[in-house]
Amino acid sequence: MMEPEAPRPPLRVLELYSGIGGMHFALKESCIAAEVVAAIDINTVANEVYKHNFPNTYLCPKTIEGMTVDEFNRLDFDMILMSPPCQPFTRIGSQKDVLDPRTKSFLHILDILPRLSKTPKYILLENVKGFETSVARDNLIKTLESCRYTYQAFLLSPTTLGIPNSRLRYFLIAKFRPDTFCFQTFNQILEHFPDHDSTDLKLTEVSSLNQTLSTDGNKKEQNNSESCADNSKSQANETLLYKLETSGHVKQKQNQDNNLSMQMIQDFLEEGLQDPSPYFIPPKFLLRYALILDIVGQTCRRSVCFTKGYGHYVEGTGSVLKTASDVELALVFQSFETISEDEKLTQLSKLKLRYFTPREIANLHGFPPDFSMYYVFLRKFR
Ligand SMILES: *[C@@H]1O[C@H](CO)[C@@H](O)[C@H](O)[C@H]1NC(C)=O
Ligand SMILES: *[C@@H]1O[C@H](CO)[C@@H](O)[C@H](O)[C@H]1NC(C)=O
Ligand SMILES: *[C@@H]1O[C@H](CO)[C@@H](O)[C@H](O)[C@H]1NC(C)=O
Repeated sequence: MMEPEAPRPPLRVLELYSGIGGMHFALKESCIAAEVVAAIDINTVANEVYKHNFPNTYLCPKTIEGMTVDEFNRLDFDMILMSPPCQPFTRIGSQKDVLDPRTKSFLHILDILPRLSKTPKYILLENVKGFETSVARDNLIKTLESCRYTYQAFLLSPTTLGIPNSRLRYFLIAKFRPDTFCFQTFNQILEHFPDHDSTDLKLTEVSSLNQTLSTDGNKKEQNNSESCADNSKSQANETLLYKLETSGHVKQKQNQDNNLSMQMIQDFLEEGLQDPSPYFIPPKFLLRYALILDIVGQTCRRSVCFTKGYGHYVEGTGSVLKTASDVELALVFQSFETISEDEKLTQLSKLKLRYFTPREIANLHGFPPDFSMYYVFLRKFR
């Protein structure tokens, strides 16, 4: 989106569903000359975090569906960044799609867009995997086409950037014509970043991806987590080696850990964590959930998606960290069914398992070091 030519006035950016400011941080990292003219969200906790990190940004604690065309026009923006509520498109949100009241504000935006006095030049939207097969997405595409946008959709995970966390997300970028992208666009969803001269973008890749999508489209995700559809679980051979792992699972994890294009978990950990004790997993939890915890070591190059229930629920809410680097997982879980509860606990304690800290999770989500969660801590421990 950056234009190398003459200096231009900074882009005026409207940030919708601004949350804790992830998009604003991304905008800063992009080094595009831009100014967020308004951030809009109704979540009071998120808004406090946002304000703390961007005290000079105009933050509007409003519902988007309550905003009129005139109010939008007055903001006079060139770009929209938005992460509409994703619950309507996830299994746990029961996939009500456009019938879910939480989609109302998004439909309102689509209704407003053609009626703005100045069509924004750029749009970026982020959502969960699942959005790509929704009616809401169809409405979005129809609106973009009728408003003369060119666009490209992606399904990308932090792993695409070498960050060892699986969190597959839908992204769509759109430019108001006659502006075009510096790469060739496709109707299909891309699973990687296009190169600048995108002739090398292999069509075979795109078409195989297309097949994957059409088979995945109807497949409902398992209920293992809020919005993590990318944990491939089904294997033909379900013989368990240890824990609940089949040879297929173990092999897949080994492949991920050997992928040198990925950073190691240790690069995302808090250095000199003063007091890790609040993060260790209580023995009661250990005994009960040991078999279903996703355990990663410091030298691993993978972790599963973190969700809202992390630290409260165990199943499918995110990986936990094995801090005892010299203890083998397979050894601890060997002949696990045959030993007593006490012995199990002794074995499990050797792993010194703890939750990732909020800072570490922010690191794995790509938040920069200057992101402050001061207010979150205040609320949590007050
Ligand atoms: C490593 O991970 C990246 C990103 O997921 C993937 O594109 C690449 O194919 C992987 N490499 C190997 C050798 O598996
Ligand atoms: C998954 O679904 C099953 C059956 O509907 C239910 O018993 C179980 O509690 C669910 N697990 C989670 C983590 O929601
Ligand atoms: C499944 O995998 C196990 C362990 O690798 C192997 O012993 C067994 O023969 C396999 N079973 C089938 C049906 O392939």
